[in-house]
Amino acid sequence: MAPRVSRTARPVVVSIGGSVLFTGHDDRQYVAALAALLRTVGRSVPLAVTTGGGRVAREYIRLGRDLGLTEVELDELGIEVTRLNARLLAASVGGPTPAHPPTSIALAVHELGRASPVILGGTEPGHTTDGVAALIAVRVRAACLVNATDVDGLYDADPRTHPNARRIPRLRWPEFRRRVLEASSGEAGQNFLFDRLGADSLARAGIPLSIVQGRDLANLERAIRGRAFDGSRIE
Ligand code: UTP
Repeated sequence: MAPRVSRTARPVVVSIGGSVLFTGHDDRQYVAALAALLRTVGRSVPLAVTTGGGRVAREYIRLGRDLGLTEVELDELGIEVTRLNARLLAASVGGPTPAHPPTSIALAVHELGRASPVILGGTEPGHTTDGVAALIAVRVRAACLVNATDVDGLYDADPRTHPNARRIPRLRWPEFRRRVLEASSGEAGQNFLFDRLGADSLARAGIPLSIVQGRDLANLERAIRGRAFDGSRIE
C-alpha cells in the first residue's frame, strides 16, 4: 500500500485560534474551506494542527472562576472545549485524519507517522494549544510553526486599541520572548498572540514561527508551504 504520509517533506505544525474558527460570521463556509485546505496540503506536507477554544472556552473559564474553581480545574474546562473544536475540524477533514483527536503530545507524534493532517486540542493544564503545537513542532523537528490567529501579524501595540500601531514583519526570538513574558500572566483563559511555553520551546529549538490571519486561507497556505506570506515571522 502507498504510504499516506510524505516521508520526504519536513512536517509543519499549525496552531489555529478558537477565535478564528468561530467568529459568528460564515463559520460553516470557513471551517469547510479550512478542512479542504488541510486535507490537500496534508497529502504532501506532514501536518499537525491544534485548535483553540476561543470565546466558548473563555466563557466556561469565566463562569468556573466565579464559581470558585481552581486554576487547574479552569484549565481542564478549557482543554475540553479545545478538544471539542478538534473533533469538529477532524470530522470535517475526514479520513485518514483520526476522528478521535490524540490527547497527548506523544500520541499526536505517533499518529503523525501514519496520517496527515493530525488534529488535536489541548493536553494538560498550564499552557494553551500554542504550547501543545510548539512541543509537537520540537518533537518532529518541524520546518516551522504557523500560528493562525485573528490578527494579521505582530504589532508594536494592540491594533484593536491603537489605530496607529505598526506591524512588525520580522523579529528575533529574544525580543519576541520578552514581549510574550510581559503580556502573559499564566492564568487560565489568558489571551496573547502566542504563549510562553510555546515561545520558549521554539526559541530553544530554533524553529521559526509564522503569524498569519487565519481567515485568509490563501495566505495561510503560503505560510504552511514555506512561501512568501503576509504576516510576521519570528526566528
Ligand atoms: P486556547 O488554546 O484556546 O487558548 O486554550 P487561548 O490562547 O486563550 O485562546 P484562542 O482559542 O487562541 O483564542 C483555552 C484555555 O484552555 C486551557 C488554558 O486555560 C487556555 O487558556 N488549556 C488549553 C490548557 O490548560 N492546556 C492546554 O493544553 C490547552
